[in-house]
Amino acid sequence: MKTRLCLIGYGKMGKMIASLADSRDCEVVSSIDPNSPQSHAHITAETIGNADVCIDFSHPSVVLSNIHKVIALGKPLIVGTTGWSGHLEDIRHQVEKAGTGLVYGANFSIGMSVFTHIVTEAVKAFDHFDNYDIFGLEMHHNQKADSPSGTALELSKIIMENCSRKASTLFDTAYRRIEPHELHFASIRAGSIPGTHMVGFDSEADTIELVHRVRSRDGFAYGALQAAKWIVGRQGFYSFSQMISELLC
Ligand SMILES: NC(=O)c1ccc[n+]([C@@H]2O[C@H](COP(=O)([O-])OP(=O)(O)OC[C@H]3O[C@@H](n4cnc5c(N)ncnc54)[C@H](OP(=O)(O)O)[C@@H]3O)[C@@H](O)[C@H]2O)c1
Repeated sequence: MKTRLCLIGYGKMGKMIASLADSRDCEVVSSIDPNSPQSHAHITAETIGNADVCIDFSHPSVVLSNIHKVIALGKPLIVGTTGWSGHLEDIRHQVEKAGTGLVYGANFSIGMSVFTHIVTEAVKAFDHFDNYDIFGLEMHHNQKADSPSGTALELSKIIMENCSRKASTLFDTAYRRIEPHELHFASIRAGSIPGTHMVGFDSEADTIELVHRVRSRDGFAYGALQAAKWIVGRQGFYSFSQMISELLC
């Protein structure tokens, strides 16, 4: 039987999830978005209807109130909307108390999650061989608001935690010789470059480059659909990367 979805927020992501739902054996039975004529305006038991699970890609200003409402109605929830990280522990407590399930994440790309896992294992492996140095590079289009990217910050953190030879990250140009304990992670912004993250390992003998390159935003929607199917029938509070780790076990 198809997994029945209620989409909270029917903007770019909501519409993309709706268009890909069928390909992942899901169907949209309801959508809630006060600014979309074809959607309901408010979250209630009636507007969620017979959905098995809700997916929120709405707006940081309303996401916390949406989460509270869905938990109170006892429905599992996938939250792609960001901006509530200061409330994680409170929401975890509420989800556990209500005996429902929730998966959240700032990046629902399955490819990026598996890439992160691969980078972690590669860093651990090369930590045994001190003739290999590590570096990072991220490239994005010239409209990107932040630099370095949030993913570059996350990757550098993973490298720091798993490589005993690196103690700090240099995201800027050094204008001097780099110290051995420094990880150089560079950012480039130009044109329409699709989001690209690379982690490299370099020795006198060879170079290994791990690269993740975004092709479209579909990856976020596929990840949200996978999480929706995964959380139905489960209890607990999970990050998207925890879910991916469980699937990889
Ligand atoms: N985790 C991930 O992988 C991931 C990926 C992509 C995007 N995101 C995040 O997801 C969110 C949505 O992204 P998007 O690109 O789909 O944005 P979007 O196109 O602006 O869509 C959001 C929709 O939600 C509506 N909305 C506002 N208040 C609402 C409420 N109370 N209840 C339900 N819907 C409401 C918005 O209306 P108005 O436009 O009138 O406000 C809009 O139609 C953003 O926070 C974005 O950063 C996360």
